[in-house]
Amino acid sequence: MATKKKVTAIKNIPKHLLGIQNLSVLEANEVLTEAKSFIKLNRGSSKKLDVLRGKTQINLFFEPSTRTQSSFDLAGKRLGADVMTMNMGNSALKKGETLIDTAMTLNAMHPDIIVIRHQDSGAPNLLSQKVNCTVINAGDGRREHPTQALLDALTIINRKGNIEGLKIAICGDILHSRVARSNIYLMNMLGAEVNVIAPKTLMPKGINNLGVKSFTDMKKGLDGCDIVMMLRLQNERMQGSFLPSKREYYEFFGLTPEKLKFAKKDALLMHPGPMNRGVEIDTKLADDINVSLVKEQVELGVAVRMACLKLYCK
Ligand code: NCD
Repeated sequence: MATKKKVTAIKNIPKHLLGIQNLSVLEANEVLTEAKSFIKLNRGSSKKLDVLRGKTQINLFFEPSTRTQSSFDLAGKRLGADVMTMNMGNSALKKGETLIDTAMTLNAMHPDIIVIRHQDSGAPNLLSQKVNCTVINAGDGRREHPTQALLDALTIINRKGNIEGLKIAICGDILHSRVARSNIYLMNMLGAEVNVIAPKTLMPKGINNLGVKSFTDMKKGLDGCDIVMMLRLQNERMQGSFLPSKREYYEFFGLTPEKLKFAKKDALLMHPGPMNRGVEIDTKLADDINVSLVKEQVELGVAVRMACLKLYCK
């Protein structure tokens, strides 16, 4: 009897992961499903697989990173890839030239995957046109941070069962945040209602066109929310003054136990890190294991990055 060729879901995965904006629901769900299978492995005592054995993964970080860089590093190693992490933060060369020159140099070494973080929006897209291998965006300027949104989605699903029908608030420096943009696209795509909350100066013009409701008042914006995502003030992307003072910012937009009460009773708190305690978040709240998912986000980040490396690297 002729065996029917098994149609694997992998067909939904293109060559590169550059952002959530152009991702299909199938692609997002495939990454999330694959990631779930790695959670248990990562909690076990033997974490090594040989899925990417023989593959070379280069992590190219032009901006500082703790979580994302170590997460991609571990993810590649746990899948058996040869991983090389290059810290480009101190490079004195001009950005455009550096990127293309570096791309050509690295391409000559036949990597299979390049993971890139860059201060310029669009840098991973440019890189993907210059090299032969898979490119994964680990955060570009203020544009996108797709694996952060995917790990946030997995963390929510892990706790709440699913994302559809939830009300999610994203609060803080929306203007400069790639995490905000990727999460707006992904949470909307997966059926959540998204509120964004920021002072007027940190709210992008036309944000409502992305299918969110915008608020400048925490009380109104948090009303009825299941998830509260806090963001760091991206001072390194600010030119000039956007806020009167950090103290005032904390008073109006810092998440405190009192302000969290505006959200649903069982609301959970998230933060991509690094946190600025006492600026966007109360320090005790950040560590409160009954409400804070911060550690879980870091944990599941490795699983999501393993899924991305496995699925995108052909
Ligand atoms: C975020 C980033 O780099 O965009 N951090 C991260 O990847 N965990 C958020 C931030 O830097 O504030």
